[in-house]
Amino acid sequence: MGLQWGDEGKGRVVDYISDRYDAAVRFNGGANAGHTVVVNGKRVVFHLLPSAALRGKMLFIGAGVAVDPQRLIEEYSEVRPGHLKIDPRATVTTPFDVWLDGRLEELRGSRIGTTGRGIGPTYANRLYRLSPRVCDVAAGRDPDFGPLYAAFGYNEGLSGWSKAYSEFLKQHMGDVPQELMSLYESGRALLFESAQGTLLDPIYGTYPFVTSSNTIAPYVSIGAGFPFNLVDEVIGVMKAYQTRVGAGPFFTELSGPLADRIRERGGEYGSTTGRPRRVGWLDLVSVRYAVKLNGATKIALTKLDVLSGLGRLLVAVRYRYDGKSTLDFTRALYEQPEPEYVELDPIPDVDWASAVKDRRLPGEALQLIDLIEKEAGAKVWLVSVGQERSMAVEL
Ligand code: IMP
Ligand code: MG
Repeated sequence: MGLQWGDEGKGRVVDYISDRYDAAVRFNGGANAGHTVVVNGKRVVFHLLPSAALRGKMLFIGAGVAVDPQRLIEEYSEVRPGHLKIDPRATVTTPFDVWLDGRLEELRGSRIGTTGRGIGPTYANRLYRLSPRVCDVAAGRDPDFGPLYAAFGYNEGLSGWSKAYSEFLKQHMGDVPQELMSLYESGRALLFESAQGTLLDPIYGTYPFVTSSNTIAPYVSIGAGFPFNLVDEVIGVMKAYQTRVGAGPFFTELSGPLADRIRERGGEYGSTTGRPRRVGWLDLVSVRYAVKLNGATKIALTKLDVLSGLGRLLVAVRYRYDGKSTLDFTRALYEQPEPEYVELDPIPDVDWASAVKDRRLPGEALQLIDLIEKEAGAKVWLVSVGQERSMAVEL
């Protein structure tokens, strides 16, 4: 689960642990996600397939995912996974959704800065009962709402649109909840990979600057049809600093040369859209909120190396409203807090490859980890200092 605004490095962490699992499942989001995995120096970005796709796992796409068939087929053709099952109930993103996403951004007055992948309209049109499901497209049933589309100003029409995708979807449709349960009952290990992060949750995040499917762990029950009470571990993934792509509040945001430096070192450019990400100091008030909402049992900390050699290290540990110091994040959803920072000894530039090989992180890094554990309320289990699988250490 992402504990920030997405791009925490979930793809990287999934790749690290994927050997321990038999199956990988997507249960939320759609092609807005961009999960980067580096294997043998080769960088692969997954949007719809689970990021364990390169590791030969059984793959599942649950009913909570917004399925863009064109993009899915493209990704599938590149990776050619052996086992891919898609829930027939999942909502399909149509060209109307993608068009409407752009149109709403134009007309809303204030842009959210969506990824333009039709995500908001896909989930909204599902609730309007306009969207086709995977099983509809597989059966060649085109969404046939010409007059309604025209009322929105969309005049393309979608008759005949399904045809290109029917065969593929028909081949890959499967009863995802049933298959997951039978795997579970035969003792196999299941890995549910979230897209986006807690602060982008449409209910619990920084609304309206959020995405449109839920991004907290209990959504596994709905988005994959797997009962949450059978989940025995929730791994919260967080970066050692904060980033956000798109508009919306960002309480610890940095600007100027320091921000540029973190952005360049961390390669902080959107993996779906290429947009430069906004960057800022780690915000443990929001991370703590995210740990609790997800029921995170442990933390994977990524990109710790990016903070090294900056000469300065601040971490927000409290918010102040009307001059009063508190741990309350909920209030920040409707009032502007002033972050209260602690200053830590800056992390020096070290040879991270040997640091992980010898399992010896610099003392300054350990201080940061202690602070995270104390303030966020969960143990840091994995520390990643690079994209390759070997560049991580379990504590
Ligand atoms: P949408 O999900 O495309 O509707 O975009 C809504 C907001 O969520 C925008 O601020 C996007 O930048 C952000 N967002 C959506 N998906 C991701 C992601 O995978 N990583 C980071 N931000 C995302
Ligand atoms: Mg991403």
